[in-house]
Amino acid sequence: MLRFSFLSLLTGLAAAESGLNAWLRYAPYAGSVFDQSKVPLHIVALNTSTASPVYVAGQELQTGIDSIFGQQCNVHHSHWGPSATIVVGTIDEYTSVYGELSSTPELIEDGFWLNTTGNSVQILGQNERGALYGAFEYLSMLAQANFTPVAYAANPAAPIRWTNEWDNLDGSIERGFAGNSIFFANGVIVSNLTRAAEYARILASIRINAVVVNNVNANASLLTPDNIAGLGRIADAMRPYGVQVGISLFFASPTSAVQGQANLTTFDPLDPGVVNWWTNVTNQIYAKVPDMAGYLVKANSEGQPGPLTYNRTLAEGANLFAKALQPYGGVVMFRAFVYNLVNESIWTQDRAVEAVQFFQPLDGQFDENVVIQIKYGPIDFQVREPASPLFANIPNTNTAIELQVTQEYLGQQCHLVYLPPLWQTVLDFDLRVDNKTSLVRDVITGQRFNRTLGGSAGVVNVGLNETWLGSHLSLSNLYAYGRLAWNPADDPTSMVQDWIRLTFGLDQSVIDAITQMSLESWPAYENYSGNLGEQTLTDILYTHYGPNPQSQENNGYGQWTRSDHLTVGMDRTVSNGTGFSGQYPPEVFQMFENISTTPDNLLLWFHHVNYTQMLKSGVTVIQDFYDQHYAGAATAQTFVSTWQSIQGLIDAERYSDQLFRLVYQAGHSLVWRDAIVNFYNNISGIPDEAGRVGNHPYRIEAESMTLSGYRLYYYAPNNATTPFETLSNYTAIVTTNNKTTGTAYTALNYPTGRYDISVNYYDQYGGASNFSVYLNNNMIGQWTANLRPWIGSAEGPRVLGHTPSIYIDGESATRITFSNVSVAHGDVLTITGIPDANELAPLDYVSVLPLGYAD
Ligand SMILES: *[C@@H]1O[C@H](CO)[C@@H](O)[C@H](O)[C@H]1NC(C)=O
Ligand SMILES: *[C@@H]1O[C@H](CO)[C@@H](O)[C@H](O)[C@H]1NC(C)=O
Ligand SMILES: *[C@@H]1O[C@H](CO)[C@@H](O)[C@H](O)[C@H]1NC(C)=O
Ligand SMILES: *[C@@H]1O[C@H](CO)[C@@H](O)[C@H](O)[C@H]1NC(C)=O
Ligand SMILES: *[C@@H]1O[C@H](CO)[C@@H](O)[C@H](O)[C@H]1NC(C)=O
Ligand SMILES: *[C@@H]1O[C@H](CO)[C@@H](O)[C@H](O)[C@H]1NC(C)=O
Ligand SMILES: *[C@@H]1O[C@H](CO)[C@@H](O)[C@H](O)[C@H]1NC(C)=O
Ligand SMILES: *[C@@H]1O[C@H](CO)[C@@H](O)[C@H](O)[C@H]1NC(C)=O
Ligand SMILES: *[C@@H]1O[C@H](CO)[C@@H](O)[C@H](O)[C@H]1NC(C)=O
Ligand SMILES: *[C@@H]1O[C@H](CO)[C@@H](O)[C@H](O)[C@H]1NC(C)=O
Ligand SMILES: *[C@@H]1O[C@H](CO)[C@@H](O)[C@H](O)[C@H]1NC(C)=O
Ligand SMILES: *[C@@H]1O[C@H](CO)[C@@H](O)[C@H](O)[C@H]1NC(C)=O
Repeated sequence: MLRFSFLSLLTGLAAAESGLNAWLRYAPYAGSVFDQSKVPLHIVALNTSTASPVYVAGQELQTGIDSIFGQQCNVHHSHWGPSATIVVGTIDEYTSVYGELSSTPELIEDGFWLNTTGNSVQILGQNERGALYGAFEYLSMLAQANFTPVAYAANPAAPIRWTNEWDNLDGSIERGFAGNSIFFANGVIVSNLTRAAEYARILASIRINAVVVNNVNANASLLTPDNIAGLGRIADAMRPYGVQVGISLFFASPTSAVQGQANLTTFDPLDPGVVNWWTNVTNQIYAKVPDMAGYLVKANSEGQPGPLTYNRTLAEGANLFAKALQPYGGVVMFRAFVYNLVNESIWTQDRAVEAVQFFQPLDGQFDENVVIQIKYGPIDFQVREPASPLFANIPNTNTAIELQVTQEYLGQQCHLVYLPPLWQTVLDFDLRVDNKTSLVRDVITGQRFNRTLGGSAGVVNVGLNETWLGSHLSLSNLYAYGRLAWNPADDPTSMVQDWIRLTFGLDQSVIDAITQMSLESWPAYENYSGNLGEQTLTDILYTHYGPNPQSQENNGYGQWTRSDHLTVGMDRTVSNGTGFSGQYPPEVFQMFENISTTPDNLLLWFHHVNYTQMLKSGVTVIQDFYDQHYAGAATAQTFVSTWQSIQGLIDAERYSDQLFRLVYQAGHSLVWRDAIVNFYNNISGIPDEAGRVGNHPYRIEAESMTLSGYRLYYYAPNNATTPFETLSNYTAIVTTNNKTTGTAYTALNYPTGRYDISVNYYDQYGGASNFSVYLNNNMIGQWTANLRPWIGSAEGPRVLGHTPSIYIDGESATRITFSNVSVAHGDVLTITGIPDANELAPLDYVSVLPLGYAD
C-alpha cells in the first residue's frame, strides 16, 4: 500500500532555514521511526472554491504530508474513500456527502471535530474556518510524530482572537523590530501581498481570526477610495485562511480633508453630519471588504482626539462606530488606554487610577458590539504589573485583554523573553468580584459576567524580515499568544515545547535546552531590569529599550518610582496614597493595601518604603535590588552556553543567528545590571553586603589607559540623555573629533594564562566607528560599531532591530567578547577607534576575565 522510500527520511538535518515558515515547516523526522500505515493516501476537501478555507486546508494537508513523509496524496473535492482518507469540511457538508455522524459533536463558532481513531480521519469544522483549524491541529500532531488516536471537539474560549499591527501608511512600524510593513509603503497598500497571505497562514494555524492592519495612532488617509480598495485586496489575500481584516480609525477623520471624502468642520460624535460621514465611510469599506471584522479606536489618549474634545463621553464616541458597524456584524474595539498627564509633586496623583475613573461610570452605556480593549496592567506593558482593576469594574461591558507580542519594554526581540508566564500572572489572577472567583481569563471570555463578546488582542508588529519578528526565538511568543487566545488556561511549558518541536525538531536535548532558557528568561529579565514591582526602568522618554531609571521621574507620564535618598516606590494605598488599591474588590484591596500581605514582587508598585524595608524573603529592598540584578544577569550568561550545547542538532543558519543575539543579550544584561545597581547605590548610599557593586577586579576603565586622540567623556549633570550609571566609573572616552583615530593602551598585569577579553563600547545611531584590539602587535579582533542600521546604510549581515539611540547611553552600550585569548603577564593591550560621523568611537572599559567569569 504505502510507497515511499523510508531511507529518504534518514537524511538528517534540514538545510539552512530563514524562519519564513515559522512553525509550519513540516520537516521530515530525522532518523526516527513511525507507523507508515497511519499515513493517508487521499484527502477529501469538501469545497471546490480555491479561495475557501476548506480548499486551503486540503492543500495544506497535501503539502504537509508530502513534506513530512514524502507521501504524495491526491486531493479530491467530492465523496471518496472511506479508507486511508482524510476528510476535511464543515459538519454540514460532511453529513450531506457522507451521511450522519455516529454522534454529533457540540461545536460553537470556529470550533472543530478531529477524529483519527479509525482508518480514515475526520476533520470537521462548525464553519470553514474551524475545518482549517482542525487541519492545522492534525498536521501539528503529525509534525510532532504524535500518532495517538484521538476523537475530540475543540471550541474557542472567546470569539475575539485578534492581532493588532502598529503599521504606519509610510511603511514604518511603531514598536516594530523586524523591518518595514508587509501591508503598507509610501502611503498606500503595497501591490505584492504575498507576505500578507503568508502571515494569514501562520495566524490561521494558531486560530487567530482577525488582524487590525494599521497603527492605533491612525492616519485619516487610510480612508481614501484607493486605500479602501487596497484594504479589499488585503482582505482577499487573507480570507482563504479565515483571517478577517480590521482597521484603526483616527477619530478626527471627518475634519481631516481625506482625499475623495467629504470634509466637515466638526468630528463631534453626536453631530448628525458626523454620524452620516462615518456611516457613509463604513458603507464604502464594506462594499470592498464585506467581512471586515471591525474598528479599533484609540481616542483621547496620548494626544489623540476623541469624544472628550466635544464634552461627549467615551461611550458616545464608541457607539458612533458601533451603530455604523452594527448592520454588518462588525465590532468596535475601544481602547481603555485613556489618561491625562499627572503631576509628580502631588502625592495622590496616579496615572494607574485613570482608566477606572474614565470607564467605570460608563458601564452599561456601551452598545452590544463594543468591546473595551484593556492592557494587561494599568500602566503600559511593564515587566510586571498587577492585573488591571478595570477588568473588575465594568461587569456590564464586553472586555478584551491587550497583550504585547512585540517586546516594546521587554528587550525588543534582542533579549530572549518568553512572555506567557508573565501573561499568566494576569490571566490567572483572581479579582474576587463579589467575593467570588473572578479570574481575569473568565472575565475576558465573557464567562464571569455572562457577556457574549470578548477575547484577546495581541500587538504583534511583524515586519518584512523573514524571521517575522526579527528573532527566531521570539516566535514562541506569537505561537503561544494564539494558543492563549483560544484557551487562556493553556500551559506555558507545553506551549513552548510544542513550538520547539515544530520549529527545531524532535531531539530531546534541543527541547530541554530551549524549554529551560525560555522558562528562565522572563524572571531573568525582570531581575536585571526592574524587580519588586518597580517596572522596567527603561528609557520611557526615548527608546523604551536600555536602562534609564531617572527617566521615570519628573514628567507627566506617571511611570514614577519616587526614588529618593531614603525611600522608593509608589504609595498606591487608600490610607495614605493614590487610592489605586481601592479600585480592586474588597479582598484584593485588603491584600494590596497592606505591606504585610502584598507579595514582594509587587511591593514597590503599591508601597513607598525605606530602602531598608525588610522583604518577606528576609533581605532588605536595597539588598534585593543588588542580589536580583546580579542573579538575573548571571542567568542571561547561561543562555549562551545552553544554546551552544545544541550546536549541530539544529540547522547552522538559525543556530548562528540566535547565538549572536544571545551573546549580545549576555553583554547587555551586564549593562542593565550595572546601571541599576549603580543608580541605587549612588542614590541610597547603602553598600552591597556582598561587595560586588563598584568592585570590578578584572575591569580596566578606558579612562585609566594611556590615551592619544581620545579624551574623557563625562555625563552632563542633569542631562538624562547620558545617564551617569551607564558609564562605568561615570566616565568613558571619545575621540577628540570625528576625523582623528584614537588609541588607548595599557599593560596587562595578570598572571600568564587564557582569558576572555570583553570590550564595552557604544554603538550610536548615525555612525559606524571601527575598532581594533591588539595584544602587543597581534590583532585579536576588529569590528564596526553598526549593529543598528542607519538611514541610507546598506544593512550588514548582523542587525539588531531594537530602537537605536543617537546618544552614549544604556541603549547604545554594547559588549563584544573575544574568547579564550592567551595573555602573558605584561602584554600590552591596545585599542584603536576610528570615528565615523557623530559616533566618536566611544569606549567604556575592557574586562580581562578568567574563563567562565563574566563582569
Ligand atoms: C471516528 O471515525 C471512525 C471512522 O474512521 C468511526 O468508526 C468512529 O465511530 C469515529 N469516532 C467517533 C467518536 O465518532
Ligand atoms: C512578491 O513577494 C514575494 C515574497 O516576498 C516574492 O517572492 C515575489 O517574488 C514577489 N512577487 C512579485 C511579482 O514581485
Ligand atoms: C478640511 O477641514 C480642515 C479642518 O476643518 C481644514 O483645515 C481644511 O482646510 C479643510 N480642507 C478642505 C479641502 O476643505
Ligand atoms: C457617500 O457620500 C457621497 C457624498 O459625499 C456619496 O456620493 C456616496 O454615494 C456615499 N456613499 C455611500 C456608500 O453611502
Ligand atoms: C459637559 O457635559 C456635562 C454633562 O452633560 C455638563 O454638565 C457640563 O457643563 C459640560 N461642560 C462643558 C464645558 O460644556
Ligand atoms: C446570560 O445572558 C443571557 C442573555 O444574553 C440570558 O438569557 C441568560 O439568562 C444569562 N445567564 C445568566 C446566568 O445570567
Ligand atoms: C504618607 O504620605 C506622605 C505624603 O503625603 C509621605 O511623605 C509619607 O511618607 C507617607 N507615609 C507613609 C507611612 O508612607
Ligand atoms: C467580602 O469580603 C470582604 C473582605 O474579606 C468582607 O469585608 C465582606 O464582608 C465580604 N462581603 C460579603 C458580601 O461577604
Ligand atoms: C524609614 O526610616 C526612617 C528613618 O530614616 C524612619 O523614621 C521611618 O520610620 C522609616 N519608615 C518605615 C516605614 O520604616
Ligand atoms: C575613574 O575615572 C576617573 C576620572 O573620571 C579616573 O581618575 C579614575 O582613575 C578612574 N578609576 C578607575 C578605577 O579607573
Ligand atoms: C544633553 O546631552 C546631549 C547629548 O550629549 C546634548 O546634545 C544636549 O545639548 C545636552 N543637553 C543639556 C541640557 O545639557
Ligand atoms: C532580518 O533578521 C535577521 C536575523 O535576525 C538579520 O540578520 C537581518 O539583518 C534582518 N534583515 C532585515 C532586513 O531586517
